[in-house]
Amino acid sequence: MKLEFAVLPTQPITCIEDFRKLARRRVPRMFYDYADSGSWTEETYRSNETDFSKIKFKQRVAVNIESRSIKTTMLGKEVAMPVAIAPTGLTGMQHADGEILAAQAAEEFGVPFTLSTMSVCSIEAVAASTTKPFWFQLYVMKDRDFIRRLIERAKAARCSALVLTLDLQVLGQRHKDIKNGLSTPPKPTIRNLINLATKPRWCLNMLKTHRRTFGNIVGHAKGVGDLSSLSSWTAEQFDPALSWNDIEWIKKHWDGPLVLKGIMDAEDIPHAIDSGADALIVSNHGGRQLDGAPSSISALPAISEAAGSKIEVWMDGGIRGGQDILRARALGAQSTMIGRAFLYALGAMGKEGVTKCLELLANELDISMGFCGKTDINDVDRSILLNPDIFD
Ligand SMILES: Cc1cc2nc3c(=O)[nH]c(=O)nc-3n(C[C@H](O)[C@H](O)[C@H](O)COP(=O)(O)O)c2cc1C
Repeated sequence: MKLEFAVLPTQPITCIEDFRKLARRRVPRMFYDYADSGSWTEETYRSNETDFSKIKFKQRVAVNIESRSIKTTMLGKEVAMPVAIAPTGLTGMQHADGEILAAQAAEEFGVPFTLSTMSVCSIEAVAASTTKPFWFQLYVMKDRDFIRRLIERAKAARCSALVLTLDLQVLGQRHKDIKNGLSTPPKPTIRNLINLATKPRWCLNMLKTHRRTFGNIVGHAKGVGDLSSLSSWTAEQFDPALSWNDIEWIKKHWDGPLVLKGIMDAEDIPHAIDSGADALIVSNHGGRQLDGAPSSISALPAISEAAGSKIEVWMDGGIRGGQDILRARALGAQSTMIGRAFLYALGAMGKEGVTKCLELLANELDISMGFCGKTDINDVDRSILLNPDIFD
């Protein structure tokens, strides 16, 4: 059995893959696998990453690229680069107080942070630990009174956008989670306990915090006072009856910038536009829901074309470097979101890791944009690609 402190990084971290490897050593197997997995065969999860590398850049030379900018806007507000931190459940299990640390890193860097409904740190805890507004992601549960109160809590915490996730009416199955006994509370199998013993850093940090459950739910939803009641509550609460009509109800209660997450087909665009949302995210939930769905990057061009300028189009899924952000931008995404890239960094090195992750992405984006002969990210379009029609 390898002890965690015997595998400290000996070389500098230079890419997201380095964070992933380090996170695999430092985060208990159950929670590492929770992040690093997709549903069923994981085909969609894998193609989210591999499809990016099929897009080739045109290299340009002798263009003056001395002064460059990767700043842009999301929902009309300036961001340091076209990236926001995606909502991810149980982030506080990758690292103690994970949501707070990631929100602080994002705030300092100048990109939006999105807090998941299924976070460990509550909306109030993140608000108390940050100085700028963050975004809140909403899952629609059957208990609409709970949803109404959750929206009120997000408003009271100064959240500046609501990201409504539409692709989780039913749950995709991840084999690894079942095999690892990932449940609420987690199964204390011999294998899990032995594995925990090899993660002293993670355990120590966890002992120092009191945030170890779903902070937005426990104590707030009717009948959910402890971990075992939470398990049955969540299993039956995701609402399979959710329809476009419900968005009107949510919009009425929220009354602020609304982002729809999980759009994968151009046929849904008229509904998205009619709903009055401000932005949509082309997303297959990081390959965690409908396995066999196309990669997000391959679905992006058709959606971007159908949306025109009527709604902001963003994408997520498979972004593991600044070049992927550049490719997404070239194929029509105003901006992007990152999930696993920041989760690995957080699990590997806490807040410092998330900051470093954002720096790595920004640096790679900036330099790659320069190689393509562009100086402003807002001028990047299909013309920087050799094969711009690849997914048409
Ligand atoms: C561990 C994990 C948990 C997630 N939890 C949520 C969630 O609570 N709400 C949500 O809308 N999306 C959730 N997602 C999906 C992400 O928001 C995002 O769509 C996805 O991670 C993007 O793909 P990437 O991880 O390849 O960057 C989760 C993704 C991961 C990896």
